[in-house]
Amino acid sequence: MCNTDTEPCLIVIFGASGDLTARKLIPSLYDLDCMGELPEQLAIMGISRTDLSDEAFRDKMRDSIKSHSASFTPEQFTRFAQRLHYHAADAAMPEAYGGLRERIVEISTEHGLLCSHDMPNLLFYLSVSPRLYEPIIQNIGDTGLVEEGKRWCAIDPTALPWQRIIIEKPFGNDLNSARSLNQSLGRVFEEEAIFRIDHYLGKELVQNILVLRLANAIFEPLWNRRHVEHVQVTAAETIGVGDRAGSFYEGAGAIRDMIQSHLLQVLALVAMEPPSSYTDAAIAQEKIKLLDCAQVASCDDQAWAWGSLGRYGASPDGPAYIDEPGVDPARRTETFAAMRLGFDNWRWAGVPFFVRSGKRMASKLTEVVVLFRSPPLDMFARLGVAMPKEPPNRLIISIAPSEGISLRVAGKVPGAGFEIETTKLDMDYVDRFGGEHIDAYGPLILDAVRGDRTLFKHRDEVENGWRIVQPFLDSERLREGIETYAAGSWGPRRADAIIEAEGVRWHNPVVEEVR
Ligand code: BG6
Repeated sequence: MCNTDTEPCLIVIFGASGDLTARKLIPSLYDLDCMGELPEQLAIMGISRTDLSDEAFRDKMRDSIKSHSASFTPEQFTRFAQRLHYHAADAAMPEAYGGLRERIVEISTEHGLLCSHDMPNLLFYLSVSPRLYEPIIQNIGDTGLVEEGKRWCAIDPTALPWQRIIIEKPFGNDLNSARSLNQSLGRVFEEEAIFRIDHYLGKELVQNILVLRLANAIFEPLWNRRHVEHVQVTAAETIGVGDRAGSFYEGAGAIRDMIQSHLLQVLALVAMEPPSSYTDAAIAQEKIKLLDCAQVASCDDQAWAWGSLGRYGASPDGPAYIDEPGVDPARRTETFAAMRLGFDNWRWAGVPFFVRSGKRMASKLTEVVVLFRSPPLDMFARLGVAMPKEPPNRLIISIAPSEGISLRVAGKVPGAGFEIETTKLDMDYVDRFGGEHIDAYGPLILDAVRGDRTLFKHRDEVENGWRIVQPFLDSERLREGIETYAAGSWGPRRADAIIEAEGVRWHNPVVEEVR
């Protein structure tokens, strides 16, 4: 039967000779196998144009797993390798799909994966260049491999095999291309069968945002415009773009690469209304509602007032972005972007949300900062007591590399005088729950095998995300005004200006003191 939690399934990876397959997909599936998390009846078939036998593909994957998984052992690998198969084909060409179908049946028969209709449950993974997404989706549709629509309304859906698809970012290059990609997907797959992956949603501390908010009684009553002064979301990296510049980054930039995709998702979890239940549909509904009421810059001047773009300069660690191989300086692609956002709803009206992301920054850091308002009356200031150095009532959710949650509270410094300082109530995830690191990809793929879309993005979330960032991408003034920032700094000066305009500062921690 094909109706248990983790049903038998064949994962078909398009782009099997690519970097993502070697660095992330196969090693994370291997790790899950070692942990006993992969269903027994699960096989993996890689597809790309290079001519390889199953054995040669397994050898390549052995090397990747050795480099990217801490749990490699020859015995475990020999077991795992039995699941791995390969099929050489140009997936962009319709004529490749007859052979592909036969191979699917052959592998599924060998592993006992066939359901009714003599087909297995199929999870397609598009790990190819984005320009191949639409041709491959159309070919999958034309070959008749997808019956999802019929399954959805069948009298006994569990008697039919399912077909799902995981699609990588970048999901479009702007609002129009994202819409077109959604339409292509929609013509072949039901929305419930589409898994738009975002590895940030697989991060433990991102998943923990809703738990923090909704499994504790003390935060939610304060989680609104009356008590929250502002929110910051930062994803800073110390590395530069390097040799990815020409092949990928020049056409993307920080807004597309990080903000539209990852950071708006983090922000949505911070700011959405509580869902009616912890289900994928209810959570997606609330994220969509939130992104729907985001303030969208309506003109060039507003995008300029709310946004800042930068490119890193040269440092002993590497060249300036404009001197990286493949970069056209006149294109003014940003390696840093900051923006002020807001949500026109009853919970958040008037509360600024600041988002920033950059390469070659002062430290590797992904975090959410929620600053609560000051007490309505500061009776200690009246006594002439100096303000503490770090603000009280600041909640920090550290997503990476440190994982934890801290809340700063003010206290009296012991002694005869009257001095107030702040200190942290700190929860370190590794200390509390242990430090076993699981790459986000494996659990996300397993969720797709189980049909759980909680950690994936709905079509409307993606399109709303593009709607929010599009004015910043389109603003000529912002693009013309792109600044060079010192490598190893916290970004350009205007990033400070947009936040200081609201009377606040970025949380720029020194490396040792991330929370
Ligand atoms: C990817 C971006 O999606 O996320 C990269 O394409 C970026 O440019 C990476 O470096 C950051 O991910 P993480 O998990 O290291 O924060």
